[in-house]
Amino acid sequence: MKIIMLGAPGAGKGTQAKMIAEKYGIPHVSTGDIFRANIKNGTELGMEAKKYMDQGQLVPDELTVKILLDRVAQDDCKNGYVLDGFPRTIPQAEVLDKALTELGDAIDFAIDVNVPDENIVKRMSGRRACLSCGATYHIEHIPPKKEGICDKCGQELVLRDDDKPETVLNRLKVYHDQTQPLIDFYTKKNVLKTVDGTKDMKEVFADIVAILG
Ligand code: AP5
Ligand code: ZN
Repeated sequence: MKIIMLGAPGAGKGTQAKMIAEKYGIPHVSTGDIFRANIKNGTELGMEAKKYMDQGQLVPDELTVKILLDRVAQDDCKNGYVLDGFPRTIPQAEVLDKALTELGDAIDFAIDVNVPDENIVKRMSGRRACLSCGATYHIEHIPPKKEGICDKCGQELVLRDDDKPETVLNRLKVYHDQTQPLIDFYTKKNVLKTVDGTKDMKEVFADIVAILG
């Protein structure tokens, strides 16, 4: 099963994608996580991506597309994957579509996790992330067992550089300008499904499972 998660920054794409990956036994592929791992390791790619991410801008398509196509060509993606944060522009969606068509394949579901802008800024300022293992928490909704410490790997949790309110507003603008047109793109392909992302995360997941089967 090949699934794409759509939705504004902070809508809960990552939270749901991890749960889908676990239930259906497919890898969770997040371009944001790949970039953050590269930043943490000080790679050239990471240094280039950071310039854009810190401003809330998108990393250029040329860089992003190659990384994604390399990742989904790996063995563990043979039986499907859940993409989180890709595609984010029409050109990215077209490249993915072409690559899949050449393999006689296609996306099965594009799930739009719908959350109004008003809720987003609040969610982001409460998010805490583990830069070691990629786990995310929320200080009110999904707190770690021990304050400031990752349940999974014991490392320190941080507020992501791009979760500061002014950067979040910029990310929302970029989302509406460049990513929202994908809703139309996948509607036309008859694979778009919308879920209400303002519900509790377990209820959102139940709605997604009802769609995926
Ligand atoms: P990326 O990492 O993809 O960030 P994003 O899309 O902005 O999404 P987030 O990770 O911020 O949010 P999410 O929807 O996954 O929400 P989460 O589950 O964490 O990208 C970061 C940057 O990298 C981009 O700005 C760009 O620069 C670059 N980039 C990445 N991909 C790219 C691409 N393809 N092209 C170009 N550039 C790219 O949830 C948010 C919070 O809410 C958490 O605290 C969570 O615990 C909480 N929460 C989740 N669900 C619920 C719920 N139902 N109720 C209450 N709280 C909830
Ligand atoms: Zn961790």
